[in-house]
Amino acid sequence: MKILSVETSCDETSAAVVERSESDQFIKVLSNITATSLAIHATTGGIIPENAAREQVKFIMPVIVKALNESRSTNHESWEEAYNSLKNDIDAIAVTYGPGLIGSLLIGVETVKTLAFAFDKPVIPVNHLLAHIFANFIDTNMSLREIEDDEAISKPTANPKPLTPSFPFIGLIVSGGHTDLLYFESIEKYTWLGGTRDDAAGEALDKIGRLLNLPYPAGPEIEKRAKSIQNSKNNIKFHSPLLASDDFDFSFSGLKAEVSRFVAEKDLTNKLINEICYAVQDAIFKVLIKKTVQACVKYGCSTILLGGGVTANKTLLGEFNLTAKSQLPNAKIFAPERQYSTDNAAMIGAYAALNPKTKPWNKIESTPDLYFN
Ligand code: KG4
Ligand code: ZN
Repeated sequence: MKILSVETSCDETSAAVVERSESDQFIKVLSNITATSLAIHATTGGIIPENAAREQVKFIMPVIVKALNESRSTNHESWEEAYNSLKNDIDAIAVTYGPGLIGSLLIGVETVKTLAFAFDKPVIPVNHLLAHIFANFIDTNMSLREIEDDEAISKPTANPKPLTPSFPFIGLIVSGGHTDLLYFESIEKYTWLGGTRDDAAGEALDKIGRLLNLPYPAGPEIEKRAKSIQNSKNNIKFHSPLLASDDFDFSFSGLKAEVSRFVAEKDLTNKLINEICYAVQDAIFKVLIKKTVQACVKYGCSTILLGGGVTANKTLLGEFNLTAKSQLPNAKIFAPERQYSTDNAAMIGAYAALNPKTKPWNKIESTPDLYFN
């Protein structure tokens, strides 16, 4: 089964072609093309939805054409080739229908509905959040799929182990818009355990980055700065919000306020910024790991699947590996390869290939506030 998938929930415009064979649980990515309007949002220090939607309009068709052509190893941008590929190779079209920014979502959803009608293809609507978790089923040809040790996190090996995540598992989504913990018994049977009461983890990093005058999005820069001082003594400590609560909720807006008060009368030297970055990461990661382990203990399961932009952070993966495995000796922890952690269409295709539930194109609607049902 070959699926063309489209993701336009925020500031990335992405199209991919993925394939799943009958016998294989892993999803092969034949192409995955992503355009981003990040540079524009960096100038405004955050996303202005109208700007993001306008850029989606510009990128959507070139990205789809490129993904179709690359999936056939045709690199020129010919619409005719793409037309033939869509007509002859593709069995279904998957699209993110929520959650996200309404203007951005509409571009992907309406484009896919038009293509589905014109080419008579079934449509598979996909929840963006679930796709972040099922990005772990993409065949990446890397040992990274299961975090084994620090080495495995940073280095692809020549002979990757074909380890498959298996149910039941605890899923942790940590992105710019969401922080959620779920217990999965199967792809369709899952329970939402808890989530953030205010800002998401990535949102907190981005907002704190703004306080520190770091470029948007701040997550990668905070990671780099924190790493630069990881072996030196750091006296700064921030509170890990809700660390001691026995529920599965998170809250990160208080941390932003705490950092804001801390920096108010300080001279922000490079060294101080690095130290703050280290302490912020530490406060956020501690609570993410603690609650995930807590969920594993409560549900008697030792497999953890991480997903979302913040899981591109190698320090987070390393800390998970260290802490979770010391508390859950049989833990198996999976994280998507970096390019499938942040928003991309391959993960939308992967989810669709694993759960190919189609819906008539005229019944699909962009749903900005889609959550878990
Ligand atoms: O999943 P994603 O691409 O978009 C949403 O669905 O929100 O996540 C974007 C978030 C941003 O907040 C960004 O700062 C964060 O992921 N992020 C990181 C890293 N790379 C991206 N956070 C920490 N460390 C990183 N290396
Ligand atoms: Zn996302």
